[in-house]
Amino acid sequence: MCPDDTSGLKELLGLGFVFDRKDIAWNIPAVDQPQDDSEWILKQSDQFSLAQLLEWDDDLRQFVPGTRGWRWGSDDFAADLADSPPYDPALYLVALSQSGDFAAMARTWRNPSGAKIGFVGAHPRYRSRGLGGTLLRHMLAQLRGRGYDSAIANIDSANAASVKMVEKFGGAQVATTWELVWYGAQ
Ligand SMILES: CC(C)(COP(=O)(O)OP(=O)(O)OC[C@H]1O[C@@H](n2cnc3c(N)ncnc32)[C@H](O)[C@@H]1OP(=O)(O)O)[C@@H](O)C(=O)NCCC(=O)NCCS
Repeated sequence: MCPDDTSGLKELLGLGFVFDRKDIAWNIPAVDQPQDDSEWILKQSDQFSLAQLLEWDDDLRQFVPGTRGWRWGSDDFAADLADSPPYDPALYLVALSQSGDFAAMARTWRNPSGAKIGFVGAHPRYRSRGLGGTLLRHMLAQLRGRGYDSAIANIDSANAASVKMVEKFGGAQVATTWELVWYGAQ
């Protein structure tokens, strides 16, 4: 819920709900140029089959805070991609290592309300080598080329690596959403 709704918040806290997680919306400026980085092979999603993309997505999510165990159904995944107007293959990037291993992915949806970064994730064995930043920069440059000034990303406040990454790109916090849970009558 949005904490600006203070009367609703007080009511829920009074009923025994407690704060659980805090999600922050970041507005990240588009960039003019992707950095020249030959350490990785970057490709857009339409160079892979849906099955490959689905497999990598599911693998990666096992290492993302809050999404472990969550898997797409293949029909849902196909519907979210090929059948979906906000999907743009140039904004769904896959990074491979020089030996061809899947290393990371990043995607942005072109929603009617604006560009929304849906996911940036690097496989643990390729983290802390600048790959997340490289992919994000390429995506932000693609967005500039499509006329966007910025994109929104929602990030759990406890996700230190992602917060650090978007801060490096000049991201600004634009909204905070709290999730409250109720564990039953005490
Ligand atoms: C977020 C993520 C993509 C970063 O990828 P990465 O390739 O490791 O990031 P980079 O190497 O480009 O690092 C970017 C900055 O974040 C910092 N960083 C990386 N991991 C960090 C951590 N665990 N804690 C704090 N800062 C961290 C890096 O030090 C770097 O800053 P620096 O250049 O000043 O040193 C990666 O951690 C990841 O896949 N996380 C899981 C997926 C996820 O949670 N995605 C967000 C939800 S959509």
